Amino acid sequence: MARIVISEFIDERVLPALRGKHEVVYDPKLVDDAPRLRAEAATADALIVRNRTQVSGELLVALGRCKVIGRLGVGLDNIDVPGCEARGMQVIPAAGANALSVAEYVVASAMLLLRGTYQSTAAVAAGQWPRNALSSGRETAGKTLGLIGFGSIGQLTAKLARGLGMEVIAFDALMNGDHPAYAGGGVRAVGLDELIVGADVISLHVPLVDSTRNLFDAQRIASMKRGAVLINTARGGIVDEVALAAALKSGQLGGAAIDVFGSEPLPASAHFADCQHLLLTPHVAGVSAESNERVSFLIADKVLEALR
Ligand SMILES: NC(=O)c1ccc[n+]([C@@H]2O[C@H](COP(=O)([O-])OP(=O)(O)OC[C@H]3O[C@@H](n4cnc5c(N)ncnc54)[C@H](O)[C@@H]3O)[C@@H](O)[C@H]2O)c1
Repeated sequence: MARIVISEFIDERVLPALRGKHEVVYDPKLVDDAPRLRAEAATADALIVRNRTQVSGELLVALGRCKVIGRLGVGLDNIDVPGCEARGMQVIPAAGANALSVAEYVVASAMLLLRGTYQSTAAVAAGQWPRNALSSGRETAGKTLGLIGFGSIGQLTAKLARGLGMEVIAFDALMNGDHPAYAGGGVRAVGLDELIVGADVISLHVPLVDSTRNLFDAQRIASMKRGAVLINTARGGIVDEVALAAALKSGQLGGAAIDVFGSEPLPASAHFADCQHLLLTPHVAGVSAESNERVSFLIADKVLEALR
């Protein structure tokens, strides 16, 4: 019997299957108690994490007998993958299992931000009637969506957006323009610069690596169409948050939805105060009831398989 440590929340319906075969320590607060996490790690044969547990440094050293790291999500930037592999640990992400939730978040945010009619609740309830101010919102059909990164989430987002009548263009640094996924999805492959100047909505679906860090700096944001919408569900650090806030305040950007931040939780920040047309969410684009179930069952199965 092996010992499985789960340091962040999981769909608890997977626990009986895991406990049927192995000893399981499940404590979603473990991630916030580094000494206790290291102590549990020392006797773990498997560790299951989301994106907050940093599997690197002292924790990696503590995982002396661990064989497998299950990641309840897809980004691996919180895991020192080469370090794990050097110690003989397999790292298993839940590839594709939360892609639909992210794609729906992107399309819903794009529609809300283009139309811009979602912030009148307090005014209408208070007896005001700001009809003129809210009468020039934009339709989604016919607008151009630019996807940066055309992997699983980018492709699913394109499919939903095409269903709404959007034109979709995409740039992916590692996929040739003749890759069948573009033509198959009704998507035109373009260069990064063409995408930035041509899109009404830009959505990011790339990992955080050296070539994507600060990709949306002040200069690139200034190159976007005036009034365009920027959506980042990928990773913090790709968009310069201060430059983004300034562009919202100046009207250069017509809206933004930001789910991921350079520092999470986002510290109370002066730059986002007073920004209009801004949706901020706490890294939940990929987390829904359905995706949590898919991700949890997928990782539980794969960890059981790796321990066999
Ligand atoms: N907010 C959330 O809850 C949430 C949930 C799931 C995934 N994510 C993030 O979404 C991102 C995309 O996930 P995915 O499952 O589609 O990944 P994926 O690996 O399927 O696709 C990523 C794509 O980015 C491309 N790419 C890599 N470097 C690039 C670069 N420099 N420029 C342009 N393209 C580049 C790759 O070729 C690949 O096609 C990841 O960063 C992931 O961490 C966030």
